[in-house]
Amino acid sequence: MPFKKIAVCIVFISFLFNCQNTETPNIKPQIIPIPSEQTINKGHFVLDNSTGIKYTDDFKISAEFLKSYIENGSSIKLQDNNSISFIKDDSIENPEGYLLEILPKSIVIKAKTDQGAFYAIQSLRQLLPTEFENKTFSEAKALISCAAIKDEPQFEHRGMHLDVSRHMFSVEFIKKYIDALAMLKMNTFHWHLTDDQGWRIEIKKYPKLQEIAAYRNETLIGHYSDQPQQFDGKTYGGFYTQEEVKEVVAYAKSRFVTVIPEIELPGHAQAAIAAYPELGCTGKQIDVATTWGVFEDIFCPKEETFTFLENVLDEVATLFPSTYIHIGGDEAPKARWKNCEYCQKLIKNEGLKDEHELQSYFIARIEKYLNSKGKQIIGWDEILEGGLAPNATVMSWRGIEGAVEAAKQHHNVIMTPTSHCYFDYYQSENDNEPLAIGGFLPLEKVYGFNPIPEELNDDEAQYILGAQGNIWTEYINTESQLEYMAFPRMLAMSEVVWSKPENKNYPDFVKRVENFHKRLDALDINYANHLYEIEGELLSNDNLSYQLKTLTDGKTIRYTLDSSEPTLQSEIYNQPIPITKSVTIKASLFNNEKQLGKVFTQNINHHKAVGKKITINKAPHKSYLGSGAEGLINGVSGSDSRYGDKEWLGFWGEDIEIIIDLGEETEINSIETRFYNGQGQWIYAPNEIEIEIENEVEKMQIPNATEKLISIKFEPNVSGRYITFKIPNHGIIPEGKQGAGNKAWTFIDEIIVN
Ligand code: ACM
Ligand code: ZN
Repeated sequence: MPFKKIAVCIVFISFLFNCQNTETPNIKPQIIPIPSEQTINKGHFVLDNSTGIKYTDDFKISAEFLKSYIENGSSIKLQDNNSISFIKDDSIENPEGYLLEILPKSIVIKAKTDQGAFYAIQSLRQLLPTEFENKTFSEAKALISCAAIKDEPQFEHRGMHLDVSRHMFSVEFIKKYIDALAMLKMNTFHWHLTDDQGWRIEIKKYPKLQEIAAYRNETLIGHYSDQPQQFDGKTYGGFYTQEEVKEVVAYAKSRFVTVIPEIELPGHAQAAIAAYPELGCTGKQIDVATTWGVFEDIFCPKEETFTFLENVLDEVATLFPSTYIHIGGDEAPKARWKNCEYCQKLIKNEGLKDEHELQSYFIARIEKYLNSKGKQIIGWDEILEGGLAPNATVMSWRGIEGAVEAAKQHHNVIMTPTSHCYFDYYQSENDNEPLAIGGFLPLEKVYGFNPIPEELNDDEAQYILGAQGNIWTEYINTESQLEYMAFPRMLAMSEVVWSKPENKNYPDFVKRVENFHKRLDALDINYANHLYEIEGELLSNDNLSYQLKTLTDGKTIRYTLDSSEPTLQSEIYNQPIPITKSVTIKASLFNNEKQLGKVFTQNINHHKAVGKKITINKAPHKSYLGSGAEGLINGVSGSDSRYGDKEWLGFWGEDIEIIIDLGEETEINSIETRFYNGQGQWIYAPNEIEIEIENEVEKMQIPNATEKLISIKFEPNVSGRYITFKIPNHGIIPEGKQGAGNKAWTFIDEIIVN
């Protein structure tokens, strides 16, 4: 084997350097996701009316894609010659890999498969002017820099998910979404078709799924945790006909995207049960859900239900050529099963331990059925509870623990942890972001995601098939808002799953994203632009100072310290700002003429604990490290709505003890902090907290509340050096709440001592 690698390498080197040196050096390509290897050479290929494409049937899809991309995007008409040629090269190991060579007189695409060649075309496309995207290239010729690119994916599962139950999107839009996936060399579209709030796929055998399950009476407006909840009073719904589903599947196939349908069971089934109440445990008529969350009415594992699901899955399996069918499996409260005579009898008869094993029984039966049809199942990581179905692939979403457990059991895994893959979370700390479910997942955090959990050895890591971004649409009801949430985070995800880790570099990626904006504009994609924002960090070396940073080059940060808005006349930032008292810093990015991006505002509260010593008995969760323990006494409070920001620290299920050392005996009049209480995201304030100063202990009970932020304040009025907090975790999330049965998270903010 080593010999073969060397041989391939030598061939490649010669391939890289035989571009003729003709003209001036060209600019470095800014391809996203970044290729494995790329060399830019002098000179360029001229694409004009004398250019032609030659290909065999092996490369029909990719060649025709390129032909129509060029001919529809410009007034150039291609000839029947081989200036652009496709060569089948079986020595390329990865079936999705390719070589792309651009020479002054020819372009050569080498691949083992049409799919590999298709990815070569997606790279070539990014070397062409963006006017081709919106079909406005009107010049007679386009110059493409000479280059040699050798490329292959890191992971075989590279996907994006879309929830169409909470809100639905047109077939045209779904195609646009698939186009974007394909452009970014992603190969899987996970279509979340059924949920409590609407059943969205036509099933001919069950017309009430179309008549009843596809429509809800009204929809929650505002955030789930707003009190009182309000509704719009308008019927909402619809479904994709089987003809439309076929159209989407065929369209995706022509872009080498596999569509994986998701049919949720046994939970998230309220819409189906509203149409067919006999499928639930109580048999009572219920409505399609009009609000968000987790619902107790789930499928009852009786024979009638299995017949229904098998009939549904028969139609689904016929419509989707994908080997995988996603069967959900997440968030299925067991309350109905506990009180159902049939379920309890089944548990006894099957020798099952409890309702979790009943869920495993349910999933394993569905798996067996689908396996008999040549299909494999994927389920959310709850399918591990009560025992994994023999051949199931696990989609790890509640963290990476499910992934680790499944891979250790030698089951395939797809990574979608909320911390890095949930694009329904906020992506900026700006107050005027569109309403979102919560959380905070900025571009850099997506980009930094490594789909292989550290806990796995090399053998176990083989079971990680890849990763995907998930877009749940409770709070996303327009196509433009969906694009805003998807982009540019989808660009980051494409690089996570395609590119070699050693080629990833965030500052370089950001430059390529800035360049990619033109292409997204031409594609009429409403991306979020947070590249011109300012980030700040309190530095506490010998003296406190505040550092400002921005991501892109060639611009100036200007700031004020008197709460006025920064202008082109404000002070230019060039070194950290010394902090000696409480202050408000306002800063903004400028080019020579104008302000770019939003004003950054940071209040620094120079209280008595700032810059002092702090220790915590437990490390915060890896995904919510904030700025570490020191971040709790850095003078900066966390965001009111983004618990994943740099200031909040998150702990999962742990009792924590925090000790602050003020360095010397200090008069302590008040101590304040905040807990995040985002119950929909499994985050709960503690039930009580204890504080100790100089052997004096005070306890505070915290009543259960629905407010998102719980502030607490002690007024000890004593002198002391050490402050100790004991913060027990809230405990297990109760039935009926989102995340029921799981450990609650604790999120704590700045501890302000005065
Ligand atoms: C999920 O987010 N409930 C899989
Ligand atoms: Zn039942």
